[in-house]
Amino acid sequence: MKIIQKTFGEVNNRLINQYTMVNDNGIEVTCINYGCIITKIITPDKEGNFENIVLGYDAINDYITNHYYFGAIVGRVAGRIKGAAFELDGETYELVKNENNNHLHGGMTGFDKVIWDAAVIENDQEVAVKFSYHSPDGEEGYPGNLDISVIYSLNQQNELSIQYTGHTDKKTLLNMTSHSYFNLSGNFKRDILNHALKIKSEKYLELNEENIPTGDLLDVTGTPFDFTSESMIKTGVESEHPHNILVGKGYDHPFLLQTNHDNEIILMEKESGRTLTVETDEVGVVVYSGNFIENGGYIQGVPSRKYLGICLETQGLPDAIHHPHFPSWVLEKGEEYSSVTKYKFGIMNTNTN
Ligand code: GLA
Repeated sequence: MKIIQKTFGEVNNRLINQYTMVNDNGIEVTCINYGCIITKIITPDKEGNFENIVLGYDAINDYITNHYYFGAIVGRVAGRIKGAAFELDGETYELVKNENNNHLHGGMTGFDKVIWDAAVIENDQEVAVKFSYHSPDGEEGYPGNLDISVIYSLNQQNELSIQYTGHTDKKTLLNMTSHSYFNLSGNFKRDILNHALKIKSEKYLELNEENIPTGDLLDVTGTPFDFTSESMIKTGVESEHPHNILVGKGYDHPFLLQTNHDNEIILMEKESGRTLTVETDEVGVVVYSGNFIENGGYIQGVPSRKYLGICLETQGLPDAIHHPHFPSWVLEKGEEYSSVTKYKFGIMNTNTN
């Protein structure tokens, strides 16, 4: 295993470094210390062709102007906070409004748009990069000085693990996620409509017209949201179900997970044979099928368009601060925020039966 470092670009006179972790099976994960962005993940298909399976850019300027959160760490709070305001211990906090009247993905300058410190970790079992960031009290409107770290580590079992940690000096909110857009076809040869997905989830969250949870948890049975057995992404994209139409035809929905660290989410693409298994200790996952990716321009040589990638954003349920029956992601002073999500890159078993 090894880790290769080089300069990726410059932001505000600070050098942005690129780190490529490589294991002995040839799997590569590349990330940069701007936004903790994962720029590339190279894995083999069933014929042994090594190709990229995440949307990304080659130049730092594209990431600076990008509003898709490609590969980034999102925070302090992933998803939308209604009215961009919340109350903690009787005090009202106003957040930056960056989507209509609401707050999305940590605000205008969320964790995806800041420079992180980086340290390389290498041992017999894995290669890793630890990113750290100090978010000052009041940043984007949130209370508390917050110190966070995100460790990306790659092992010989072809697993990438993301470990999130956080501490605050004042009660605050923290609910981070990783916003990679996966496309298992390899180098974006096909869009993700024929990707099959399996999720251990019997409930998804109803959203209002601004994509914010209403508070109702709905049963997936008999709907395009039923991924308890494998189902294609195009099921929801082509469906007349009002909840698919509401989010621009497809998925942009939180699902409540029934298990942790037990093959919760499996994404598969039959043609390439690639599989991605996601295991987490989070309570939920937002499945976003790339419905808002616009036409125009290129993404690594491929014309930009809808459904070019799918995000599997493991996290606490969105807008939980306004829904007391959702598990809380309030972080107390002195408490540790700690969460791990693992992504295992595999090949489908081609022996049928
Ligand atoms: C998330 C949101 C989407 C969209 C994307 C970024 O997945 O839920 O609605 O904002 O991020 O384009």
